[in-house]
Amino acid sequence: MVQSVGGCYDRGGMHLRRCAFALALLSVGCLKPQTLEQPPSANSGPAPAVSAQAPTGKYGQVKGVELSGAGIESFKLTGKTERAVTALLPVEGQPFAQALRVEIKEKSGNPWDVQLQQRVEKPVQVGDVILATLYLKAEASREESGEVQTEFVMELGHEPWSKSVSYPVRAGHDWRKIYVRFQAQRSYAAGEGQLLFRLGFTPQTLLLGGVTVENFGSQLALADLPTTRLTYPGMEADAPWRQAAAERIDKLRKRDLAITVRDRQGKPVSGALVHVHQTKQEFGFGSAVVAQTLTRPGNDKYKELTAELFNTAVFENNLKWQPLAGDWGEGWTVEAALKGQQWLTQHGIQTRGHVLVWPSWRNLPRSLKPLQKEPEKLRAAVLAHVSELATAMRGKLVHWDVLNEPFDNHDLMDILGEDVMVDWYRAARAADPSAKLFINDYAILSGGPGDTPHRDNYERVIKLLVDKGAPFDGIGMQGHFGSALTGPEDVLKLLDRYAKFGKQIWITEYDIDIDDEALAGQFTRDFYTTLFSHPAVGGIVMWGFWDGAHWHKNAPLYRQDWSLKPAGQAYRDLVLGEFRTNQEAKTDASGSVKTRAFLGDYEVTVTAGAKQKTVPLTLTAAGAPLSITLD
Ligand code: XIL
Repeated sequence: MVQSVGGCYDRGGMHLRRCAFALALLSVGCLKPQTLEQPPSANSGPAPAVSAQAPTGKYGQVKGVELSGAGIESFKLTGKTERAVTALLPVEGQPFAQALRVEIKEKSGNPWDVQLQQRVEKPVQVGDVILATLYLKAEASREESGEVQTEFVMELGHEPWSKSVSYPVRAGHDWRKIYVRFQAQRSYAAGEGQLLFRLGFTPQTLLLGGVTVENFGSQLALADLPTTRLTYPGMEADAPWRQAAAERIDKLRKRDLAITVRDRQGKPVSGALVHVHQTKQEFGFGSAVVAQTLTRPGNDKYKELTAELFNTAVFENNLKWQPLAGDWGEGWTVEAALKGQQWLTQHGIQTRGHVLVWPSWRNLPRSLKPLQKEPEKLRAAVLAHVSELATAMRGKLVHWDVLNEPFDNHDLMDILGEDVMVDWYRAARAADPSAKLFINDYAILSGGPGDTPHRDNYERVIKLLVDKGAPFDGIGMQGHFGSALTGPEDVLKLLDRYAKFGKQIWITEYDIDIDDEALAGQFTRDFYTTLFSHPAVGGIVMWGFWDGAHWHKNAPLYRQDWSLKPAGQAYRDLVLGEFRTNQEAKTDASGSVKTRAFLGDYEVTVTAGAKQKTVPLTLTAAGAPLSITLD
């Protein structure tokens, strides 16, 4: 994916939810509309994004078409206008003469509840290269950082509100010049597009000026245009969270390991070489995979890397009700999933189950819709599905996502009442007692700090499940990140908010949709480190690892040609390096070596003279010394 800031396939920010609401997409929240008519088949990949172009070097020589009229003066306050007060003020010492002062007096539930809006009177073609420039300054802020925030959006001015860009911007007390470069993700006829600054945030007073939005069509490439680097709090090398996280990781994820080598008579052997080689971590490191890709001939690189990089996998689509019901065409069967699961087991990889109930019509099989006026039949059909699928997979899955995305997928609850969720958990537990039962939702960690309706609702639903005694074990947080990158300290606060329920937390669908690969690498490293350091987190699963099999063609680790992205390097460095123990030492006079090692599975090889022996070892939180007899 080339698009730096493509809003509509960015599910990360709470601020982007509107796109999902408005689009009412089938199963994908923000996938581009053309994929709606064609749900993916077993063989198809995600829709291609607007293509990349080489830089022309002509920036500054070519004049673009101005899309934003007279600049900030032409934006009008819309929505819950009583929550904000605007005024035009003269400005000195800047390349613009006027700024719009916006005082947000009242907090909104959604960023789009109040916005500055302007129609785009000129037509725009899909693929057009566009540069927005704006100046932002804080006058008053309640944030610790002293910063104000808004979000720049270009979208269709009516349903389905298709976005070309959705970009959060922040500034402190000095004027900050911000560039937002993007390509139009669709064509907009004259008067059909709109530019927005979203204002539905906590009370703050900001100044906006010098707004220009220039369309260069196809005269320039995206890479010709200047850009303002995204940032997140805590990205600095000396940020204090780093030391604290390292200490927690040592305490939580490691134990002392003592190995004593003896000869046949039971006497300690000193000077023996002990190689402690970790083969698997206890903490879950996983990815979404496609069952068919693992079990069909070929796809060697995909298979090899799945086995090398992960101890956990989840099927991206193989266990979803819609495909299993035949709505996606041929090839989606429980047998295909079982074959995939068998492949994973043979390669030492545990499988998460995703998903038993995704309770909106857009994510349920077509055959269910006719039952909407017959609640008891509907109730029975959903329960039968849960029982049948969980029975078919019984004993083969470590987790089941029983319920997915209750925030905006609640058609079944609207008809059957919210307690029906508890019944789904009971049916899943009865059918497969060994799988840990999860709930899963998005925009919990992604989208920056703070309370949002999405986060509040997640807490409410989890509490409801707990209060009603649902057999429920774990909390899933998807982790699809867009441009609003949540910094480590804020991630920790959000984890604490849900950790109070005493359930394990898994990050279930990590990916990051920004065009700055280096930053994505840095963020991935910091995000994984933060999660690994939190006591409630049991694992992190990314939503695909290769662009060739990823819903947004923007997988964290590998490009389409299998070259490694910076985030792939960061992942390899951490998961295969820093978070693993691989050491050699010689036994002391008492025949022992002592080390501190990560929890998980090991091969321990002892060499003394001509003798060599390899034994398996599992280091658990309880810890246990190991004694090896060389014979
Ligand atoms: C997505 C898949 O990646 C797509 O291939 C499919 O077309 C739609 O679903 N949240 C979820 C996942 O819980 O199941 C979604 O997966 C991505 C968003």
